[in-house]
This record gives sequence, C-alpha cells and structure tokens, in this order.
Amino acid sequence: MPFMSIRLIVKHPDSVLRERAQEVTKFNANLHKLLDDMADTMYDADGVGLAAPQVGILKRVIVVDVGDEHELIELVNPEIVSAEGEQLGPEGCLSIPGLQGDVRRANRIVIRGQDRNGNPIQYESTEFLSRAFQHEVDHLNGVLFIDTAESVYEARKHDEQERDED
Ligand code: NI
Repeated sequence: MPFMSIRLIVKHPDSVLRERAQEVTKFNANLHKLLDDMADTMYDADGVGLAAPQVGILKRVIVVDVGDEHELIELVNPEIVSAEGEQLGPEGCLSIPGLQGDVRRANRIVIRGQDRNGNPIQYESTEFLSRAFQHEVDHLNGVLFIDTAESVYEARKHDEQERDED
C-alpha cells in the first residue's frame, strides 16, 4: 500500500469523543480518503473497529474488521434497526488504552447504512461482530464503553500476554 496514511487516534478524555457526529451527505473523494485512512489507522493499531470521531472527524462513519469472512466493513450513516438477545463480554477501545470493561450488549442486531458510494447496505450479525458494530455506533453518539460497562479494569498488556503464553 504505497499511500498508506495513519491518522492520530484521539484519546479519552478529549471532548471530540463526546460529540454527536453528523450525517454524511456527500459521497465524494474526501469520504473515500477518510475511509481508507480509518482502515489503515485501525489495522496499524491492531484494532477491530474505528469510528470517525476517533480520528477527530465528526461524521457518521465506521470501519470494522473482526477477522471474520466479511473482512473490512465500511459503513456510512449506520443505524441499528433491530436488536435482540443479550451478551456480556469484554471490550477495549483504541481511544482508551490500558482499560477494558465488561459490557452488556444485544446479541443479534440488524444494522443498516450506506457504502462509500451511497448505496444502501445491511448486515445481520451476532456475537463479536454485533458487539463491534454496537461499540462503534455508540462512538457516533458520544458514548464510550466506560459509560456502560458493568466493570472496568486494567487491560493486560500485549507483550505480557504473549510472555504468559510462552
Ligand atoms: Ni472504541
């Protein structure tokens, strides 16, 4: 990827993370560049999802890749249109390094939005992908996992984890 660009990830408690992001109305080169950069930034940081406010852009844009068959998902103006069931599990956030929390989420959701060209798209998801979507949509509304977590605790560092697994 010759023109990869990694954007700076905004960290809690920056107030931009607490704003409501605005609907996207123009599906133009700026949006495509934002989506490309968000994916580069997410992969560079070893994340599974990123919302535009996390790179300081208050637009309703998310990228998710939980390592399943979907690979990279780009969603513009995402909206959760149905939610059922329940799951409780750990979450972290690239904007809140060092912390994790156990968050209760819907298990199955249907999420609708648009692709980078404005075409309608929809995903039905469960479990981890569903959790990632819900986490990223929360970001568009200024909500962080530490707001809704039932418990928040220190994340084990990557290298510590690897050392333990040796
Ligand atoms: Ni996050």
